[in-house]
Amino acid sequence: MGSLSNKRVLLGVTGGIAAYKSAELIRCLQGDGAEVRVAMTPAATEFITPLTLQALSGNPVSLELLDTAAEAAMGHIELARWADLILIAPASADFIARLCHGEGSDLLSTVCLASHGIIAVAPAMNMHMWGNPATQKNLRQLRSQGLPVFGPAVGYQACGDVGEGRMEDPAALATMAGNLFTSGLLKGKKVVITAGPTREALDPVRYISNHSSGKMGYALASAAMEAGASTVLISGPVQLSPPERIKTIAVESAAQMLEAALHEVEGADIFIAAAAVADYRPASVAEQKIKKNDDDMHIQLVKNPDIVATVAGLAKHPLTVGFAAETENLEHYATQKLRKKNLDLIIANDVSDTSIGFNSDDNRVLLVQPGANKALPIMNKNTLAHKLIEHIAALLKTAH
Ligand code: C5P
Repeated sequence: MGSLSNKRVLLGVTGGIAAYKSAELIRCLQGDGAEVRVAMTPAATEFITPLTLQALSGNPVSLELLDTAAEAAMGHIELARWADLILIAPASADFIARLCHGEGSDLLSTVCLASHGIIAVAPAMNMHMWGNPATQKNLRQLRSQGLPVFGPAVGYQACGDVGEGRMEDPAALATMAGNLFTSGLLKGKKVVITAGPTREALDPVRYISNHSSGKMGYALASAAMEAGASTVLISGPVQLSPPERIKTIAVESAAQMLEAALHEVEGADIFIAAAAVADYRPASVAEQKIKKNDDDMHIQLVKNPDIVATVAGLAKHPLTVGFAAETENLEHYATQKLRKKNLDLIIANDVSDTSIGFNSDDNRVLLVQPGANKALPIMNKNTLAHKLIEHIAALLKTAH
């Protein structure tokens, strides 16, 4: 059911004989609705000319990292931001190795490093290079990072060998690229998402809060919108810009977040609580700035309402999804929370590993639900958001 309508695809062409198929691949991607730009490694230009790919894509081909004119037109960071998908096709063994090591030695590898979107690779190489343990190890690493790997196909190779290593056909690659997006999966559905921290005021200038960046909730809102849902994002104070095409309601305190959530869940099909809501708030908010007089000071805190549990407790409640950040006994605590809050799904992550979670771009989660739990590999929050929306859409289907 994949479609690339409204999708921006950066086709990364690396040095291999299959580069001649990139011309047709551009046509197939465009045929499925994508806007296509092309970036080539220096080696790729030995196999097919940039002029051919420029004429077909209708856009200038990006070639050099240190080219001032090209950087002024669309720099590598801008290009990385522009692309919903970077499709490396053909992906040579050398490029795959460089991708694994996070190298930024040319324009294309640098764009991949800077990308927050999906990066997919379509390997193409001689069957012995493909079978080499080093190549296979690199592929395993990319897969474990959540990068989709398309193919390779088996068949006749340019070097005369017959075996695994041919690039997948362009039409098949375009279909696989389209399948990465969840377009239409939540068409006609309403999704409400909370994100970011809450701020609990002590006086007119001070508050209690936490370090939540809001990235996961914002990524989920974008993925829900891309899946066709009418999406409402209720956000605590974050450094992120409100996403396009999403109704965003800015709130500060847990009480405001609850009020907005209860208003918005009416008629909603899915409620996702990604916010890091402050568990307690000051019992009273001083009208004037609190003066420092004594050596110590006591603040009385009272419990905040549990937003996700309140929504899940409504007589007519949407499919309700919560998060659980734990430092130990992840599965056990998350399962307890699932039951206590009466949720349909908990997305649990271990925050004792500081390389993932709260403020990071990556996350590794365990899906805890009645029945079988499911562990997902570490991946960036945007890729994860798409996977989670797919999973939640499937849950919604079985719930009805
Ligand atoms: O109980 P705990 O805070 O660990 O639960 C986390 C989940 O509950 C998250 O989904 C969070 O958004 C939600 N939550 C809430 N309201 C609260 C506290 C947590 O919606 N007051």
